[in-house]
Amino acid sequence: MVVLKNISYRYPTSKDKVLKNIDLNFEKGKFYTVIGKNGSGKTTLCNLIRGFIPHFFKGELTGEICIDGIKLTEENFDNISNKIGFVFQNPFVQISGVTETVYEELAYGLENMGCKEDYIHERVNYVLDLLKIRHLENKNPNNLSGGQKQRIALASTIAMDPEILVIDEPTSQLDPDGTNQIFEIIKILKDLKKTIILVEHKMELIAEYSDYVILLNDGKVIMQGETKDILSNIEIENYGVGVPKYAKIFHILRKKGIEIPGGNIPIKKVEAYEMLKIMEEKYGFYRG
Ligand SMILES: Nc1ncnc2c1ncn2[C@@H]1O[C@H](COP(=O)(O)OP(=O)(O)OP(=O)(O)O)[C@@H](O)[C@H]1O
Ligand SMILES: [Mg+2]
Repeated sequence: MVVLKNISYRYPTSKDKVLKNIDLNFEKGKFYTVIGKNGSGKTTLCNLIRGFIPHFFKGELTGEICIDGIKLTEENFDNISNKIGFVFQNPFVQISGVTETVYEELAYGLENMGCKEDYIHERVNYVLDLLKIRHLENKNPNNLSGGQKQRIALASTIAMDPEILVIDEPTSQLDPDGTNQIFEIIKILKDLKKTIILVEHKMELIAEYSDYVILLNDGKVIMQGETKDILSNIEIENYGVGVPKYAKIFHILRKKGIEIPGGNIPIKKVEAYEMLKIMEEKYGFYRG
């Protein structure tokens, strides 16, 4: 669905390259999470996939990017635009500021796309129900909480029915409740078989939902693969990201010389409990 071939990029004002020889292939309907420490290039990668590089950001770009089989160039940016929805890290940036109700806000993007009135009402109503935000429809977007704003930002993107969603750190400013509500929405998108490219730091949630993980460091892809393989690998901690806390327990036990039956480090809560039960039977140290 999205293919990057040997992409390197330097911003107009950055001294060094910010992305270096990136090769990635995002398959249709799969859920990818990009991890990496601050400044590793995650947002830049999103800007590139979204077409903001080279459309808005100039600088020096080499390599090739294809979206749904079409090479992304300056000329076809508008055609490809409708295929990709982008949700920014900061929902205050995303809310249009010109609408007075959530309903109008959700309709705004569709109006700009030139959609017919009937279709706009149909999509807005669908998304209000799908994301369980009907109770917000008459509220003023500017008066919502941060978490609600972020849900509206996601909702207005989903209303436009993009095939690919690029979502940059949607939960970084949210409390655990707000974070869970965003992941509920991401789970719905996954069930709808959308291609999802998420930037996120919360490892336990990534472990729960994501199909694949890409680790960036200093503009390079250090590791990529299935979530269970990357997030159970303690080496990711050399690049400023931690393994999920459930995996951490087993790495500590292994370091103490305790063998993990089967050899696979669990990354999810349920798997961790199962493994501890097996280990209790084997070693007799687990006490519930
Ligand atoms: N508009 C810009 N102009 C010049 N340099 C930039 C620009 N945006 C980002 N950079 C630089 O590019 C590098 C990668 O930044 P980027 O924002 O992509 O990282 P990130 O992984 O998203 O970080 P964070 O976790 O803080 O969001 C950093 O060194 C940053 O300073
Ligand atoms: Mg960023």
